[in-house]
Amino acid sequence: MTDAANISVDGHNDDYAVLAGSVGPEVIDIRKLYAKTGRFTFDPGFTSTAACESKITYIDGDEGILLYRGYPIDELAENSTFMDVAHLLLNGELPNPAQSAKFNHDITRHTMIHEQLAQFYRGFRRDAHPMAIMCGVVGAMAAFYHDSTDIHDPHQRMVASHRLIAKMPTLAAMAYKYSVGQPFLYPDNSLSFAGNFLRMTFGVPAEPYVIDPVVEDAMEKLLILQADHEQNASTSTVRLAGSSGANPFACISAGIACLWGPAHGGANEAALNMLREIGTVDRIPEFIARAKNKDDPFRLMGFGHRVYKNYDPRAKVMAKVAKNVLDKLGISDPIFDVARELERIALSDPYFIEKKLYPNVDFYSGVVMSAIGFPTSMFTVLFAVSRTVGWIAQWTEMMEDPEQKIGRPRQLYTGPAKRDFVPLDKR
Ligand code: SDX
Repeated sequence: MTDAANISVDGHNDDYAVLAGSVGPEVIDIRKLYAKTGRFTFDPGFTSTAACESKITYIDGDEGILLYRGYPIDELAENSTFMDVAHLLLNGELPNPAQSAKFNHDITRHTMIHEQLAQFYRGFRRDAHPMAIMCGVVGAMAAFYHDSTDIHDPHQRMVASHRLIAKMPTLAAMAYKYSVGQPFLYPDNSLSFAGNFLRMTFGVPAEPYVIDPVVEDAMEKLLILQADHEQNASTSTVRLAGSSGANPFACISAGIACLWGPAHGGANEAALNMLREIGTVDRIPEFIARAKNKDDPFRLMGFGHRVYKNYDPRAKVMAKVAKNVLDKLGISDPIFDVARELERIALSDPYFIEKKLYPNVDFYSGVVMSAIGFPTSMFTVLFAVSRTVGWIAQWTEMMEDPEQKIGRPRQLYTGPAKRDFVPLDKR
């Protein structure tokens, strides 16, 4: 462990404490830097900045390691349920049988939405992107659940957290139903979280919906793999919105908006559209060439990562889930063959090796969601359903931090210095 970091500016020599976490890089505590030196750090994109202290999720990008409260993501995906992982992320421990049953009960009892919230969907065009709908209806929850918007009341924070986790699948399924002109289905609290979501999405009132256990298992794994990921763009958005004291529904709506971007959670939709555009294995070299061409803005969607400079551990599990689902459902999707061949070629190409570009969580998730029956426009919605657990766990951790204050970055100003106003007739 390093004792201190010495920074010398204009002959001033100041030591700054170096703080160590339980694992991972140490941090230089520069909170007094501006007061001591009159200078800011400059780190657009926060490539070298730790914005907070957290106990929730740890990523080692070089080794391709992802831990939820210390548990490796592949072990959780193979052995746990999404509800138990949600309990782990929110409370810090995997639940015992009694805690698991109580948590499932508590979440299940919040799956229905206020009946008038359903009216909001009627105002959207049928061809509205479901992420546009989710931004709207999740933010609108603040207009219906006033009894859980006092962010300083731990009980209200917990109720709001449970409402958000429980209602996201209901709202997401309604966005899909609205887009295909089918009636909304109410939740069925006798089903698992994943099963309930599948039934609300693909079931119809005219007949019973039979849940395929292969699909339900794939859904569980999808939800677990995408639940949290340290201080990614959308989680940082939720934290920054929450730092102003905004209610949790508004914060999660902000997170949904940020996740929508194709550089972030929107990559799963973009990756599958890219695989469809490639179409056949023989066209892969053309797209690899485009991805390497500096003058072409095209990037291989589902490849590369700000933190992972090794294989995204979630992508490894997702690839297995994709193969399992396709095999068990008897689907021979050429998209999957294109994805596997694209991965093989890219990982042997010097450009990708040198830049440490590997498949990320979004590369195979689209193949799984497509096999389950979701249209690409719903892919990022599913990501949001899962990541709501991580967002609300991170938001809660921030709200419980006694040192929490409003986030307010500064800037390097390169605009005009002070100048006097010029009247219109003098310009
Ligand atoms: C998610 O942060 C998280 O944790 C996010 C996430 C989560 O769970 O929350 O993991 C979910 O968002 C996964 C990432 C999904 N996005 C995509 O798949 C979109 C395609 N990937 C790229 O847009 C890019 O890799 C990013 C945005 C993911 C990361 O960008 P960085 O870290 O800012 O890296 P960069 O853009 O500076 O790229 C470094 C170099 C560049 O070349 P040079 O300028 O150094 O010559 O690598 C190149 C880039 O051109 N590069 C790619 C590439 N990704 C980076 N070249 C081709 N194809 C790609 N996909």
